[in-house]
Amino acid sequence: MDIDKVIADITFAIYSDHELISENMNPFMLYEEEFQGNLLDIGCGQSPVILEMLHTPLNFHAIDPDKKQIEYLIERIERLSPGREIHTYKEPFKSGLFPEVRFNYIVMSNLLHLKIQMPHLEEFINDVEQIMAAGARVLVIVHAGEDKGSDRFRYFSIEDLELLFPRERYSVIYKAQHWGDPPKFNIRFGERYCSMVLDEADITDPIQRRIETDAYNEGNDFSSISFMAQRIL
Ligand SMILES: C[S@@+](CC[C@H](N)C(=O)[O-])C[C@H]1O[C@@H](n2cnc3c(N)ncnc32)[C@H](O)[C@@H]1O
Repeated sequence: MDIDKVIADITFAIYSDHELISENMNPFMLYEEEFQGNLLDIGCGQSPVILEMLHTPLNFHAIDPDKKQIEYLIERIERLSPGREIHTYKEPFKSGLFPEVRFNYIVMSNLLHLKIQMPHLEEFINDVEQIMAAGARVLVIVHAGEDKGSDRFRYFSIEDLELLFPRERYSVIYKAQHWGDPPKFNIRFGERYCSMVLDEADITDPIQRRIETDAYNEGNDFSSISFMAQRIL
């Protein structure tokens, strides 16, 4: 089973545009009065951040190697704001793709904690820095907490992020951590995801299905950090 495709399909199928926006923390909205210039969402998926900002004058750019995610994002934008322009790139991020654009707002939401796709974080951030405008604001959302020995995810503290965005070059302008019970959003996702995996494994016994699904939901830690840094120069 192609997990990325399944994630894109389930997200599109079960989350309305409103739910996707309202479950997401988007502290860029604190600066709404000042919005101008270019915004880039790196690893955009179905970009809750852009969906929330469609009414603003920003020029949107979104990049994701997962073509399905980009198609779903375009469909959501067309539904919410028909004709709204967005530049999309269906490939992994590299600064060389943007020789002429400098970005005032950059989003990396649920991207940096992906261990396999993001093996060298410092190099990656240095490359992103090449396309920042002076004073650019960078929003990062990541899994929070202690390392759980996962092959797929790394877990961050706020201090880890402060090291990635050192104070010689960035001011930290927002940091928040969410703890606690999984939001309803993630539980619904887990139910649908497990159902597909269990169907594929031909597990039909309802009790066993419940046990496996509960174990999946309990094993997930939904704590997250939302962090914003501003490029000083
Ligand atoms: C977990 S999703 C997050 C989607 C969205 N940002 C959100 O928060 O809902 C991570 C996305 O990053 C994309 N991705 C992985 N490696 C990438 C890379 N090198 N450059 C750009 N996007 C990447 C994946 O295809 C995936 O769609």
